[in-house]
Amino acid sequence: MKKSAAEEALELIQPGCLLGVGTGSTVKFFIEALAGVKSHIDAVVSSSDASTELLEQAGFTVSNLNEVGTLDLYVDGADEATKHLHLIKGGGGALTREKILAEASRRFVCIIDESKLVGLLGKFPMPVEVIPMARSFVSRQMVKSRGQPVWRQDFVTDNGNQVIDVYNLKIMSPPEMESRFNQIPGVVTVGIFANRPADTLYIASRASVRRMDR
Ligand code: 5RP
Repeated sequence: MKKSAAEEALELIQPGCLLGVGTGSTVKFFIEALAGVKSHIDAVVSSSDASTELLEQAGFTVSNLNEVGTLDLYVDGADEATKHLHLIKGGGGALTREKILAEASRRFVCIIDESKLVGLLGKFPMPVEVIPMARSFVSRQMVKSRGQPVWRQDFVTDNGNQVIDVYNLKIMSPPEMESRFNQIPGVVTVGIFANRPADTLYIASRASVRRMDR
């Protein structure tokens, strides 16, 4: 299903495309499929060291966002998505660079299998990237919001930071919660992607791939 969603998203790549590439197992299929449309891609920017390595193995030269400017298209997976195209991301720990690329793109496309589509965000623990010295402080703030923070031990982000996974949050208003948590000192990035939601979702089931636009 992940492969079908990834292949369907290729239809959005137009000649001259400045492309952003996300991170994760669904995106791995997308990178594999990119070989077929390579001539359409003028520049590619990556959201993680892992995806950079995959892109280079596939024969792409990966550019720096500072050199490329605004991207035409950013394609990534998600851990959860709603019909409002709000997301939880960061299961792979790449949320900060992913959020930067999503914001820096004209179009943000998410490729998921149907198990990721939910009524309410929050069953999947919400990742938060934190400055290491603020980990306990940020965790206490999460407890005040009735979340249960768990430090993702033995994991360091590509930016040298740590990740807390927050369980059992009731995310009734994703944009409000994203903005509120963003204000906590020491938080680098919150895994709720709602103030800049996806523009398009490709949702794969066993039988077909459905597209949802905002
Ligand atoms: C990485 C992410 C991924 O997009 C998310 O975890 C989904 O991954 P997968 O495609 O492997 O299910 O946010 O930080």
